Amino acid sequence: MVSLANLGGMIFLTLMTIFLNTGTVTGQAVPAKMYPIILVPGYMGTKLEAVLQEATDAPVYCLRRTGTWTLWFSLKELMPMVRQCWYYAARLHYDPTTRKTTNSKGVTVIVPQFGGLESVEYLSPWFEGIIQQTIYYANMVSRFRDVGLTPAIQIRGAPYDWRKSMNEMDEWFSKFKTLIEETYYRNGNKSVILIGHSMGGSVIYVFLRQQTQEWKDKYVRLMWTLATPFGGNFKYMYDYLFEDDYPGYLSSIIRRAERTFPSLAFLIPKPEAWGCEPFITSANGTYTPCNYEDFFRDIGQPRAYEMWKDVAHIQGSFDHPGVPIKCWGGGGQPTLRSMSTTSSNLYDNIRRTVVKELDGDTFVNYQALRVCLKWNANTNYPFQFRTFNKTHMQMIRDSEVLDEIVKSYLELA
Ligand SMILES: *[C@@H]1O[C@H](CO)[C@@H](O)[C@H](O)[C@H]1NC(C)=O
Ligand SMILES: *[C@@H]1O[C@H](CO)[C@@H](O)[C@H](O)[C@H]1NC(C)=O
Ligand SMILES: *[C@@H]1O[C@H](CO)[C@@H](O)[C@H](O)[C@H]1NC(C)=O
Repeated sequence: MVSLANLGGMIFLTLMTIFLNTGTVTGQAVPAKMYPIILVPGYMGTKLEAVLQEATDAPVYCLRRTGTWTLWFSLKELMPMVRQCWYYAARLHYDPTTRKTTNSKGVTVIVPQFGGLESVEYLSPWFEGIIQQTIYYANMVSRFRDVGLTPAIQIRGAPYDWRKSMNEMDEWFSKFKTLIEETYYRNGNKSVILIGHSMGGSVIYVFLRQQTQEWKDKYVRLMWTLATPFGGNFKYMYDYLFEDDYPGYLSSIIRRAERTFPSLAFLIPKPEAWGCEPFITSANGTYTPCNYEDFFRDIGQPRAYEMWKDVAHIQGSFDHPGVPIKCWGGGGQPTLRSMSTTSSNLYDNIRRTVVKELDGDTFVNYQALRVCLKWNANTNYPFQFRTFNKTHMQMIRDSEVLDEIVKSYLELA
């Protein structure tokens, strides 16, 4: 007698056998030695946890002491009442003397599982895989598993506290370096492919610029950036003013916290990429990457200007990173590009006009993406630039893009 459950299991096994055989027949067999991969997430692309102990400065109705809870991303923490407590834990405090940021009193923020995939596959412990919004690298990891890569050995994650920018990542950079070396040795001395989505590409780039050529030649096979805004985006400048785009529209408190993050300052348009092109015009004049001091003063955020100065030139003049490069991104999607208002108050919601251009991936302006083309001139290293008519998140989640990523990866092996 075969019970129904067993029958189900047998059908499943049969299907698996057919599937696996088909895989071999169609020539999708895994090459014996594949390059290991480390995934670096972008801004807001890592799950974060918080613990509170003696958080005596928190609003009176918040807990002063907590166990570990999910800071990013959890809708539950953004409900009315508790969202002020979330803000207390999520925000950063900038010290203009040390030029460093710290958490609110009594708050510890934890980036779970460095080296593992847990905190880069899904952002939320709830509804994993059900709500598309909380999927980060999960679809990509699953594709790489399908072609035979083993999670934790051949495919790993390098999550970080994305609230901060690269000027506060020295300790992380040294952990990242160790992770790359360890991954190399664990895979029979195979050099490592570093994949970075969005700001993650800039993190990899800044890291590589700090390493010796000898080290890079040995340990790094390729820098592969997906939708990285090397030149900075208008969206993030806009985010200092309004809450009506992702993720501010989920809760405006997120935007309030973001404005305390040096990473937000890092992401605004850079003069190296845009020159003095106007982004905002108002009754007061024009704001460009050449007069951020005026911009941040006029919107009453002088601290953000100090943060911007700390990180503005951290990518230098975009000298070559000294490794082979694939620079892929999205184009053809409506993307915030500029704004004008007839008011002298930039926060004026009524009289503002936002110009959207069909030129980007909905977050990243094409002009910010194409900064990497500068590296094409160096003929010592292979360079590939590819664009897809896809959105910022589709660049790591969409099945057509993932097909191309896996195909391109297999060609390297
Ligand atoms: C990898 O490199 C180490 C150190 O150079 C060496 O001892 C080891 O034998 C190498 N392993 C393989 C599989 O080549
Ligand atoms: C507009 O310009 C005036 C005069 O320079 C300044 O006092 C005011 O803060 C500016 N306001 C904004 C929102 O730009
Ligand atoms: C890109 O995709 C959008 C829909 O997402 C479509 O409206 C547009 O026509 C496409 N552009 C090109 C050049 O294919």
